[in-house]
Amino acid sequence: DSVAARKGATFHFGSTWDTSYSSAEASWTTNVYNTFFNHIVAENGCKWQSTEPSRGTSSLTQCLGVQSYAVARNASFRGHNTFWHSQLPSWLPGSVTASDLVTNVIPQHVQQEIQGMGSGVTSWDVVNEIVGDGVSNGMTALQCVQNKNDWPTKTADGSGTNLVTDLSFVHAAFSTALKYAPASARLAVNDYNTGGNDAKTACMFQVLADINANAAVPYNRLAVGFQSHISAAPGQFSAKSDLANNFAKLAALGANAMITELDIKLSSATSANERYQAAIWGDYLDACLYASNCFEFINWDTRDDLSWIGASGAGTLFDTNGNPKPAAYEVAARL
Ligand code: XIL
Repeated sequence: DSVAARKGATFHFGSTWDTSYSSAEASWTTNVYNTFFNHIVAENGCKWQSTEPSRGTSSLTQCLGVQSYAVARNASFRGHNTFWHSQLPSWLPGSVTASDLVTNVIPQHVQQEIQGMGSGVTSWDVVNEIVGDGVSNGMTALQCVQNKNDWPTKTADGSGTNLVTDLSFVHAAFSTALKYAPASARLAVNDYNTGGNDAKTACMFQVLADINANAAVPYNRLAVGFQSHISAAPGQFSAKSDLANNFAKLAALGANAMITELDIKLSSATSANERYQAAIWGDYLDACLYASNCFEFINWDTRDDLSWIGASGAGTLFDTNGNPKPAAYEVAARL
């Protein structure tokens, strides 16, 4: 199609699939996949709590199920995620030391998940949400990550022990991913509130440079995943300039950019708000479509009443009746 021609490669555009859908939700969503999307991510099925329910045990049934669903739709599949502070298996937080985490737990988990999922994965979120929200300009990569006030920087057992005294846990995750991921898979640091020109965004660049230098992952294999859970409120950064600048800075390094979890929350679903939402959606898609290094774009959830932010947030492309909203038309016109 014209996008593929312009980018010289397949443009992967899609959404989530959750293993918990009712049969009515599944058939509605499948219809959208058959007609509109060519890319799928598991909303929950590939997270650590699903994939390693007891230590050392690989359980990829849910994750493989979503991948097979993608194959059956002629869609591509991205992996989310191998490391996150949330949706962890119950055996993990509080049970490991820092050296056990870095030497055994993380490499074993990343290997068994990435190796087990095999070749049909366009990109992996190797680490998810590791940068803090209270960061300031000039912080080192380590300071950016130590600022994250969640496990493993703050263990969930209440002891408050900080397991992160250096970034070896990040390096272990990435060097293992590099070893076992398909050669074409992009390896991402994925996070929210990183589209603008601010301290958290600067941290993402610091962390990426650190991974490149210390885990020996070449930039052409690296990506920043911009989750993009945003609100359609005035005063936010511009997708046309700030986001596009961030993509261009990554391109200058030889690294990839991707939109991994876009939803755009509304204060209420008025038609004026929906038109504003459509314009922002178009700007996001343009930022990716016109960047040389952006090939994957995921909308987080497909219908307002299936959305993790709740139906009242009206943050997806389709309304609670399953009808396309102005944003869906805005997007369709560009693909
Ligand atoms: C959310 C899912 O959408 C929910 O179903 C689940 O209960 C919690 O996680 N950032 C991420 C995603 O990286 O994995 C989260 O997904 C949303 C925020």
